[in-house]
Amino acid sequence: MDVARTAVSIMGLEDKETKDNSPKANMRKVMRIFAKTPVALAAFYRSRKGKKIIQPKKKLSFSENFFYMCFGKVPNKDIVKAFDVSLILYAEHSFNVSTFTARTITSSLSDIHGAITGAIASLKGPLHGGANEEVMHMMNKIKKPENASKWINKALDNKDVVMGFGHRVYKSGDSRVPTMREYFGKVAKIKKDKKFEKIYDTVEKVMIDRKNIYPNVDYPTGPTYHLMGFDTDFFTPIFVISRITGWSAHIIEQLSTNKLIRPLAAYNGNKHRKVSELKNR
Ligand code: COA
Repeated sequence: MDVARTAVSIMGLEDKETKDNSPKANMRKVMRIFAKTPVALAAFYRSRKGKKIIQPKKKLSFSENFFYMCFGKVPNKDIVKAFDVSLILYAEHSFNVSTFTARTITSSLSDIHGAITGAIASLKGPLHGGANEEVMHMMNKIKKPENASKWINKALDNKDVVMGFGHRVYKSGDSRVPTMREYFGKVAKIKKDKKFEKIYDTVEKVMIDRKNIYPNVDYPTGPTYHLMGFDTDFFTPIFVISRITGWSAHIIEQLSTNKLIRPLAAYNGNKHRKVSELKNR
């Protein structure tokens, strides 16, 4: 995520139209950011493993190219379809934290690269996009399906926050989950791996039975990306390459009818505190 954030920031430094906030220039800039970010991330994916950077191919689709640039080959079409579906589900989601961040930055009439850089920083947090990576860390800690029930019950006894569950808006289930759960199952079948699905189902059942808290979309995407072969710290950067579209649409809309976003805080702390003079401290 640090690489994604820095890459978009550097793109702002290099883009000749950074300061032009006209609708046409903004459309050109977001297309460039959308195209370049996966290339930058895939280059980092390979270079940190000491592997040669791979250029994208014109004849491949967006998702096929991402696999190709990371792994040097395109997987079977059902895996690519599952990846495509995850990107579509991640693309836009109204006023979530990172989108609100992008809108707020834009509202001061700052530039689009800055707004997306700020949005990436916001998405990184485990209570937002970072949750898909945390889900995988949890599944790795659980290790085997036989451990899942004991592990999750203990976490709830300890009052731990369980990543990939709960949502500020969806209180009775995230509408994106059934679709992503289906594609997680398809990928698990292709990869002949039942372990993560079993852990998934057990943890979900205990969360609903004990807390009435349902999974959010990060719960199925985490193990799906793992089965596709991505390193865990790439799950949230994958979210970035998709959400760039949603952020961009919001930024352009914000600029079209801009008003500075400046909330007031309602102070409810101490009414008055006596401050002793410096010489008496
Ligand atoms: N695990 C355990 N308990 C949870 C929980 C979770 N994932 N999500 C909510 N709760 C509990 C809270 O502890 C709280 O319990 P309490 O009333 O006994 O104190 C209650 O449910 C209400 O939670 P609250 O924090 O007020 O809900 P919220 O709307 O503020 O939280 C999230 C929304 C997303 C921040 C929260 O569910 C969370 O932290 N989830 C994990 C991170 C995650 O998956 N983020 C991705 C979101 S798409």
